[in-house]
Amino acid sequence: MVRWDCDGGVLLVGCLILSVLELCSSGITSAYVRNDDLSLDMPIDSDVFRVPPGYNAPQQVHITQGDHEGKGVIVSWVTPDEPGSSTVLYWAENSQLKSRADGFIRTYKYVNYTSGYIHHCTINNLEFDTKYYYEVGIGNTTRQFWFRTPPSVGPDVPYTFGLIGDLGQTHDSNRTLTHYELNPTKGQMVLFVGDLSYADDYPLHDNNRWDTWGRFIERNAAYQPWVWTAGNHEIDYAPELGETTPFKPYTNRYHVPYEASDSTSPFWYSIKRASAYIIVMSSYTAFGKYTPQYKWLVKELPRVNRTETPWLIVFMHCPLYSSYVHHYMEGETMRVIYEQWFVEYKVDVVFAGHVHAYERSERFSNIAYNVVNGLCTPISDQSAPVYITIGDGGNLEGLVTNMTEPQPSYSAYREASFGHGILDIKNRTHAYFGWHRNQDGYAVEADSVWLANRYWYPSETSSVAAI
Ligand SMILES: *[C@@H]1O[C@H](CO)[C@@H](O)[C@H](O)[C@H]1NC(C)=O
Ligand SMILES: *[C@@H]1O[C@H](CO)[C@@H](O)[C@H](O)[C@H]1NC(C)=O
Ligand SMILES: *[C@@H]1O[C@H](CO)[C@@H](O)[C@H](O)[C@H]1NC(C)=O
Ligand SMILES: *[C@@H]1O[C@H](CO)[C@@H](O)[C@H](O)[C@H]1NC(C)=O
Ligand SMILES: *[C@@H]1O[C@H](CO)[C@@H](O)[C@H](O)[C@H]1NC(C)=O
Ligand SMILES: *[C@@H]1O[C@H](CO)[C@@H](O)[C@H](O)[C@H]1NC(C)=O
Ligand SMILES: [Fe+2]
Repeated sequence: MVRWDCDGGVLLVGCLILSVLELCSSGITSAYVRNDDLSLDMPIDSDVFRVPPGYNAPQQVHITQGDHEGKGVIVSWVTPDEPGSSTVLYWAENSQLKSRADGFIRTYKYVNYTSGYIHHCTINNLEFDTKYYYEVGIGNTTRQFWFRTPPSVGPDVPYTFGLIGDLGQTHDSNRTLTHYELNPTKGQMVLFVGDLSYADDYPLHDNNRWDTWGRFIERNAAYQPWVWTAGNHEIDYAPELGETTPFKPYTNRYHVPYEASDSTSPFWYSIKRASAYIIVMSSYTAFGKYTPQYKWLVKELPRVNRTETPWLIVFMHCPLYSSYVHHYMEGETMRVIYEQWFVEYKVDVVFAGHVHAYERSERFSNIAYNVVNGLCTPISDQSAPVYITIGDGGNLEGLVTNMTEPQPSYSAYREASFGHGILDIKNRTHAYFGWHRNQDGYAVEADSVWLANRYWYPSETSSVAAI
């Protein structure tokens, strides 16, 4: 189906050596060759979509962080037949003492679809770095899962994040998730950069595809938190179908701890996790000057204490820098408003999805332009974040392969393949990012980079570690 182009591989390495000698200053466009078959959705009767047995059995179980520090967990699930109970029973490993937390239920209608009973329950004040078991569906049928809370927040706490975007529910989506699960560098939390189920690509935005997607990701998302941002496929705005409330399925199904960071909306918020401070932004909610999102971020950025959380990570759905033709410059308005702050506050890395391919930037900025001075070319800037586009989870719309030429100087590496990323924070100065293309299995990194923390190690530039 796909093959590695040997000549291309040799050329890449050649260019890399040359670039060290500064004879070849441009970035890498991978010569990897694949066929461009559209990836098909897994059939509705696939194993990954199976409904768990038992009357009213909880399904689509998923967790996310439930507070600002990592001592809280939000557990969400759906009961199909009757409301049942929104209570979660939980207990620490090696403890007989079961505690309970009570949640709430949401239901919604979309065109002629009626949702099951969607439960959200926040568990607070857990111990750090502890394995907990939990049980949902108190009543007719119960199911048990577990999770591990993160270590206490601190500057040198190692932590490993998985990066997945634009996942959908195709055979490639399943490959991406499987490779993430099998990756020898074990991700402890997924930062999901938006576009979840792609239900809106079906007639009437068939919301059953939201349910199948929830069952598909349960095998991972019930055991480790996934952090959400809304993509364009979460908008589900369809006035022609009488659906005029944007984000209706998404907000009913995915509950996030926005209030814990003084946000007034689930679309933008922040969490701390180990040595990282993670800011979630929304590409599809107003973000211009004076809007609630803007006002929140004005207050939020100065609150980040890099002595406590050295790693400042931002993510949203639409990339600010992308050199693919598809979606070209869609992130430009957000870039014009926010890029200067990302540089000023020395954000380490900005992740995004949307473009169904992979790309990593150099540390570049483009913030000097003032309409009349003509300074509108991106320049090398060691205070700038690295921008990583990772919208390559594998959805039914397929890859985008058409790139702008020549490759712009800000673009360090680009390749149109499905895959996932791992951000492995080692300590306050060093983190390692690897991108794993699906075709090579889980263990091979097609692109990787050592990130030097912008606050603690600003003198060190990031360098390519391996190909
Ligand atoms: C999805 O991947 C899992 C884990 O590799 C596998 O067990 C399952 O059979 C796959 N399902 C489909 C429909 O490909
Ligand atoms: C909704 O309408 C579509 C198209 O008419 C139909 O195929 C589907 O079965 C309906 N679903 C429900 C739950 O009525
Ligand atoms: C489910 O549990 C409720 C409350 O315990 C009970 O009234 C009901 O009969 C049960 N339903 C089934 C199908 O077992
Ligand atoms: C930043 O965090 C450190 C370590 O937790 C703490 O000692 C310091 O007081 C904090 N600084 C501010 C301004 O809160
Ligand atoms: C790629 O993009 C260029 C520039 O927009 C366009 O001219 C060309 O037709 C596109 N090629 C394909 C195969 O889509
Ligand atoms: C931080 O991690 C890097 C990479 O593992 C290592 O080389 C460096 O020595 C570590 N720094 C400290 C202070 O341990
Ligand atoms: Fe997408």
